[in-house]
Amino acid sequence: MTEFDTVVYNADEVVVGPEQSDTESVYGVTDRFGPDADLVVHEDAAVAVVDGRVASVGPTEDVTADYPPENAATAVDADGQAVLPGFVDSHTHMVFAGDRSDEFAARLGGADYQKILSEGGGILRTVRAVRAASDEQLVEGLLSRLDTALAYGATTVEVKSGYGLDRETELRLLSAIDEANERHPVDVVATFMGAHAVPAETTADEYVERVIDEQLPAVAEQGVATFCDVFCEEDVFTVEQSRRVLEAGRDHGLAAKIHADEFTRLGGTALGADLGTVSADHLLHASAADVTALREAGVVPTYLPAAAFSLREPYADPEPAQETGAPIALATDFNPNCHSRSVPMTVALACCGMGLSPAESVVGVTRAAALALDRRDKTGTLRPGAPADLVVLDAPSYVDLAYRFGEQPVDRVLKHGSVVAQPTTGVTRSTETQQEMITNRTEEHSE
Ligand code: NIG
Ligand code: FE
Repeated sequence: MTEFDTVVYNADEVVVGPEQSDTESVYGVTDRFGPDADLVVHEDAAVAVVDGRVASVGPTEDVTADYPPENAATAVDADGQAVLPGFVDSHTHMVFAGDRSDEFAARLGGADYQKILSEGGGILRTVRAVRAASDEQLVEGLLSRLDTALAYGATTVEVKSGYGLDRETELRLLSAIDEANERHPVDVVATFMGAHAVPAETTADEYVERVIDEQLPAVAEQGVATFCDVFCEEDVFTVEQSRRVLEAGRDHGLAAKIHADEFTRLGGTALGADLGTVSADHLLHASAADVTALREAGVVPTYLPAAAFSLREPYADPEPAQETGAPIALATDFNPNCHSRSVPMTVALACCGMGLSPAESVVGVTRAAALALDRRDKTGTLRPGAPADLVVLDAPSYVDLAYRFGEQPVDRVLKHGSVVAQPTTGVTRSTETQQEMITNRTEEHSE
């Protein structure tokens, strides 16, 4: 046969995605979710890629009969390794400037997140740093953060604006996201979050008018953002204000997402269900009934266990969502207050903190997260026809993502079938020189 793109073969495991049923759910897909739904995993398996998409997946013997490694432009022998769909990080605030590590330390000493915000710190402090930053600084900062996200396996990343809080700066942030999307292998999805905080010397009501009358029309005209998000929270935006922002966003063609019930049960989750937002995120204080309503409305519940971890808040209880059989998405919430771009870390926290199984967690950062970004094609799976975004672990099983918590488990990342990151090369793998150094040292010690 003629040459084709890529084959990854001899893998101990290839994770394909959730099992499927014959009927479409309220989420518009046939995937089955929940603790009883099987994760489809092939052992001793391979994935072949043609034109950037998965052409074949299954036992190595079968796949390589049709797609022999010697005919591939790129052939990866994944012996001893697991292959997963590229991770989808469906909730980040990755474009910002400045540093808030001192606030993190202060919070560890007892300071309160919302009090810091009400005194002009937190989000408002990052807003000042962003307004003072150049366009180039914003883009370069984002590109370098995307490098790290990619090295930890993320091939699709949602990024929210929301550190501008005025028309000009919100548009600059969205332009930076657009430019990073053009220049970086990661697929970057833009969310407009002008309603992230109330700027100084403004009332929430006045600011909501500005978001709706000044920012949204300009954001729609700029054409970068896919989603509109709002921080529905005590002392930030009320349920009614949030509703207005999200409905206006929809009028401008932006699909809705919501930061819901993170610090208090204000009603954001119920609003998400009522509006039928694409996802409702955080949910730390949502009730079981709130979460059940999400499933009925086809909203993807999204948990951000790293946010709970860094805020030292109790983790969300996933049981109500599990019982409904909804797709449970997991994301990093990477932001200056929750500084982790590691999807594997989120998986470990979901397992050990929230009690999700490794299989549910892997689905959470792949297929369910793709649905949280309204990607109802095959994104987040390795089914034939899916985008060939692959993570190859330096470990034999997807369980190692959580088992080896806090370590870098990723050996390489492929985007559309091309290797775009190889984070462990030269770090944990011994080159000949390193090997020599080790040998010399051992000899020295034995003398
Ligand atoms: O999702 N809660 C609101 N927004 C972010 C935090 C942003 C920040 O503190 O800069 C979140 O946790
Ligand atoms: Fe957030």
